[in-house]
Amino acid sequence: MTRSPQDSGLTGRCCLCSRSRILQSTMTPTDDSNTFDTVTCSGLAVSHSPDLDGGGPRTWPHFIQTVRRHVGEQVNHAFEWCAGPGYIGFALLGAGLCNKLTLADINPVAVAACRRTIEQNGLADRVTVYLSNNLADIPDSERWDLVIGDPPHFREALPRHIERGFELRSVDPDWSIHREFFRTLTPHLNPGARVLISESRVAGNYDDLFTHMMTEAGLELVEPIWELPEMRRYCLLGKWGG
Ligand SMILES: C[S@@+](CC[C@H](N)C(=O)[O-])C[C@H]1O[C@@H](n2cnc3c(N)ncnc32)[C@H](O)[C@@H]1O
Repeated sequence: MTRSPQDSGLTGRCCLCSRSRILQSTMTPTDDSNTFDTVTCSGLAVSHSPDLDGGGPRTWPHFIQTVRRHVGEQVNHAFEWCAGPGYIGFALLGAGLCNKLTLADINPVAVAACRRTIEQNGLADRVTVYLSNNLADIPDSERWDLVIGDPPHFREALPRHIERGFELRSVDPDWSIHREFFRTLTPHLNPGARVLISESRVAGNYDDLFTHMMTEAGLELVEPIWELPEMRRYCLLGKWGG
């Protein structure tokens, strides 16, 4: 299921006014398949474009490795938060680490790319994508066993984000997107669900804040997992007791 920006009320209901402005000024909602390239993630051809790339074409193998090491078995239903074109989620599916996949992003162009990947790989019975500000437009009935995400990593915009059009991908104003995500996440989790979030030290060290958000949401913090020291990226892994 997908919704148009108008259907979702995205522009009117977005709690982050700057998100609406960025979306309106820099994004052109389109379903035009010709605008996308493809990149292969775990054997699946994933539709994308450079302006949707938030690092996923380089980080997905590390997510796969981390899920194999710390989750192990195939889960039934995975969700990718801030999915962009869904590089990581599709890679999980292609690697056989989940049976079903849900993707969501606030950017309608990213959602159109996901739709194209679903169609071109015949995955309509296994993958659902939502145009959603955080989890606001995801039905209550969605329940997940594994959540992965690579959210925006800067709490405020730097000149380069604005000049190069990276703001939507890079900036989480005062960590409001993170806060809202953890505030609304757990009703969507099945007992025993794992939550694996990639964070960055490039914009500072916010370990305590993020781990606090996770534990306050009721997740048991398994351990901080360093995977990509050369990129100053790491993952936080939480477990939901239910
Ligand atoms: C760092 S990029 C990651 C994209 C992709 N997962 C990847 O690995 O390349 C962050 C993503 O978060 C999305 N995003 C930003 N604000 C959001 C919000 N409020 N709700 C949902 N997605 C959001 C952006 O559109 C962007 O696709």
